[in-house]
Amino acid sequence: MHIPVLRNEVIKYWLGDPHGFYIDCTLGGGGHLRELLQHLSADAQILAIDKDGEVLQETAPTLAHPGLRLVHGDFKNLDQFLTAEEQGQAEGILMDLGVSSFQLDERERGFSYHEEAELDMRMNRDQPIKASDLVNQLTQEELSRIIFTYGEERFARQIARAIVKYREDRLISTTLELSSIIKEAIPARYRRDKHPARRTFQALRIAVNQELEALEASLPQAVGALKPGGRLCIITFHSLEDRIVKKFFAEQARTCVCPPRQPVCNCNYRPSLEVVTRKAILPGEVELTINPRARSAKLRVARKIEVL
Ligand SMILES: C[S@@+](CC[C@H](N)C(=O)[O-])C[C@H]1O[C@@H](n2cnc3c(N)ncnc32)[C@H](O)[C@@H]1O
Repeated sequence: MHIPVLRNEVIKYWLGDPHGFYIDCTLGGGGHLRELLQHLSADAQILAIDKDGEVLQETAPTLAHPGLRLVHGDFKNLDQFLTAEEQGQAEGILMDLGVSSFQLDERERGFSYHEEAELDMRMNRDQPIKASDLVNQLTQEELSRIIFTYGEERFARQIARAIVKYREDRLISTTLELSSIIKEAIPARYRRDKHPARRTFQALRIAVNQELEALEASLPQAVGALKPGGRLCIITFHSLEDRIVKKFFAEQARTCVCPPRQPVCNCNYRPSLEVVTRKAILPGEVELTINPRARSAKLRVARKIEVL
């Protein structure tokens, strides 16, 4: 059975009143939620969201709780999924970002650079833009920027150039086709450590699914959905995601917004969050041995401030 990333740490912060209302923004295989359900009473209410309809179909039959409501949608629209009674009532919210093991393991979804498949990478297959559209239609500069920014790939320019050159003859349509273009574009001595296509595939996935935009849009809505004292728990797998979460938490936790030179504070600013994890929580050695996919996971938690 798949063990969810930072399982014990997530439950420690996500779980509060066993009769409360909970939100799982990224249901995936339901690993974290299954764990949470073990601690909840039958009268608890749970909203679980995933933008991937196939993931929902796969996971739904494995979860049983009378108060569970599943939504096929993007958490960037969280407000729309909450009833008026649920708004401001959540005991805990979890976002476990990125792709699920199910998505990575389903060859034909095109997330894996190890397996031949159509170059797709859409989490929500109702959306029109696939990874193949990006590699075949973006300019060299746009591709280079995406691969460099979202993939932190030092050979982004070389890879973008190789993609554009290749597609002069024919369109790029499969994962292994792209993977071999990338491999050729990277100097031989840098191909050894990790798979040469890893960073570019990550970058394209983030771009196709507009992952950073969704995260930024969802954070204020998540704060609004929490009750005072409720916790927002976010697991990121990428430095850009982590930076967005860290910055948002810090901004919401400020106690003063007076100009820095002003000697006495008179802004009466009220923070909305208290940062619970000063430093992000990382998986330990044991977890990394069992689950190498937890490698870059970081958990940050903030608590909604009680309004006095
Ligand atoms: C890492 S998995 C979650 C794994 C889950 N916590 C578990 O323990 O099995 C992330 C899931 O979130 C979904 N997802 C990613 N971005 C999303 C978004 N913006 N809105 C809704 N679901 C999203 C993905 O489709 C994927 O199934």
